[in-house]
Amino acid sequence: MQKIAVLTSGGDAPGMNAAIRAIVRAGLAAGWQVFGVQNGFAGLVGGDMRRLSSRDVGGVMRQGGTFLGSARSEEFRQRWGREQSLDHLRSQEIDALIVIGGNGSQTGGHALLEMDFPVVGVSSTIDNDLEGTDITIGADTAINVALEAIDRLKVTAASHRRAFLVETMGRDCGYLALMAGLAGGAEVVSIPERDLSPQEIAAGLHDAYARGKSHALAVVAEGAQHTAEELVRYFNEHRHETGFNLRVTVLGHVQRGATPTASDRVLASRLGSGAVTALQEGRIGVLVGLHGDHVGFTPLDRVAGRTKLVDLDALPFARVMAR
Ligand code: F6P
Repeated sequence: MQKIAVLTSGGDAPGMNAAIRAIVRAGLAAGWQVFGVQNGFAGLVGGDMRRLSSRDVGGVMRQGGTFLGSARSEEFRQRWGREQSLDHLRSQEIDALIVIGGNGSQTGGHALLEMDFPVVGVSSTIDNDLEGTDITIGADTAINVALEAIDRLKVTAASHRRAFLVETMGRDCGYLALMAGLAGGAEVVSIPERDLSPQEIAAGLHDAYARGKSHALAVVAEGAQHTAEELVRYFNEHRHETGFNLRVTVLGHVQRGATPTASDRVLASRLGSGAVTALQEGRIGVLVGLHGDHVGFTPLDRVAGRTKLVDLDALPFARVMAR
């Protein structure tokens, strides 16, 4: 092994920069050259890569986003795009590629692996929906952003005795909504793995007032069957029956761009250098993730195309905690 390349792909996640930094510095310490690919798989198709030095990654750890850029590439989904990517990697004499990203990105890496190119993945997405890791880089920061919004909305909710609804990101996984709801003491949590009907959400909010609370707040994951938009419509149409107004905040991309928490920086440093260790040990075609307290490795074919769902036991627990 002499030359490796790294790219970030899919939605940016806070801590991606710390992971690139770790790969560059651990790779250089192993005596290798490290190349950064611009704009994810789109840059790979176009052969857009440059050599990175230790100084190139100085100061990036405290920045959200990814200084290499990211993209969702249509060309790479085509066979010709993947073949062109391999041509570029081989013409630069790159021995292995490290892919930092979530579900779609690891599926992309797996496709190159199936074309006999050595690939290692690093778990990174705010959604924490990847098989093969307990937690992904970026999830902790995104939860904290959602939590700050919930804390602030509760102040206003209590001042006005109003009900609030917060929609989080998370694609088809309820982890972000559930953890932010648990940490923020939300009265109601609706996630794709356990959807609540508009009537159930109304009953949950109503019950909070009945228990003497001065506020009532629901967290709804974007992947839940009844989205914020639909719920607002329902609450407007049934204002007389529910007995209260509902104000809605859709957090959207605000959850992606924050300064990474200490936890995400440490995780990213461990998983990034874990990817270099994997290559040193000849572990090709694995996802580097956190297994309990340890950095662990899972074959990419057990990760690609799958969605990790949340632990549903946390739902009744969150309900009891918000009594
Ligand atoms: O996967 C990260 C994520 O932010 C999801 O939570 C969300 O559904 C999606 O990306 C949004 O994608 P885009 O930035 O392409 O709109």
